[in-house]
Amino acid sequence: MVGIETSDDAGIYQLTDEIALVQTVDFFTPIVDDPFTFGQIAAANALSDVYAMGGTPLTAMNLVAFPIHTLPSTILNEILRGGLSKMQEAQVALVGGHSIEDKEIKYGLAVTGIVNPRQYLTNAGAKVGDQLVLTKPLGTGIIATALKAEMASMEAVHKMVEGMITLNRKASELMKVYEAHACTDITGFGLIGHALEMAKASQIQMVIQSQNVPIFPEALEYAKNGLIPGGAYSNRKYFSCHVEVGPRVPEVLVDLFYDPQTSGGLLISLPSEKAQRLVEALRKEGVFQSFIIGEVVEGPPGRIQIL
Ligand code: CO
Ligand code: CO
Ligand code: CO
Repeated sequence: MVGIETSDDAGIYQLTDEIALVQTVDFFTPIVDDPFTFGQIAAANALSDVYAMGGTPLTAMNLVAFPIHTLPSTILNEILRGGLSKMQEAQVALVGGHSIEDKEIKYGLAVTGIVNPRQYLTNAGAKVGDQLVLTKPLGTGIIATALKAEMASMEAVHKMVEGMITLNRKASELMKVYEAHACTDITGFGLIGHALEMAKASQIQMVIQSQNVPIFPEALEYAKNGLIPGGAYSNRKYFSCHVEVGPRVPEVLVDLFYDPQTSGGLLISLPSEKAQRLVEALRKEGVFQSFIIGEVVEGPPGRIQIL
């Protein structure tokens, strides 16, 4: 039902009239020093692609690369414990995995979930007149860069970690209640890259109101000081020909919109009359950083206007 054509978050394969499989895999190198926290982040990030499709994750398998001859195995145990804690929170069963020896640590999950074949959400369903809701602040790539340079405050790192280990489960459940048309999660291609995938797949244009986009305040500060990850520059290089930036938009905000996110929030396109109600419901359920950040408009498909 969903394959590789539309660069979606997960594949969907119909089994019966009632059940379709949702499958995804994600793994990466550590972005924080604490192994347990890294495990939590990697697992929350991998599970997110099932939530982005409106699915319910059921089982997961560990993917591990680890330098077992040079690092103590207690580090590996902590990573796996961190991942397991998120699987337990998500009520997902760990059913196996695979590990290899490697110079660099890598960890993630292959996740299988289910969804009703009539109720899944893709990035291809956004409609003209919809509003766009984002459920987590941007700036994890910039804060991680500042952390590597030993220039990040503890407060900033704490906020970044809290954001990254938060499951997108609540947001996924609520977007279905408020009849969302389309969804994707914000990860490595940044807000603009993933919004563009949605704009292309849905054959629509988007307007993003830059002042309404939630951002970690520290990330804004670090970006002003030039602490911008390489990934943000490659995202800009790759996507900027499809983006029109208004003359009053501060350049530093544009940097944040290209910032690659890890375990970012959901970008949800839904009927405008339901958007404010979704945001209120999300905040009531603890997803406090949810905001309406723009709308879907008529115009050349696959383009974004930033105002
Ligand atoms: Co995704
Ligand atoms: Co993914
Ligand atoms: Co085997």
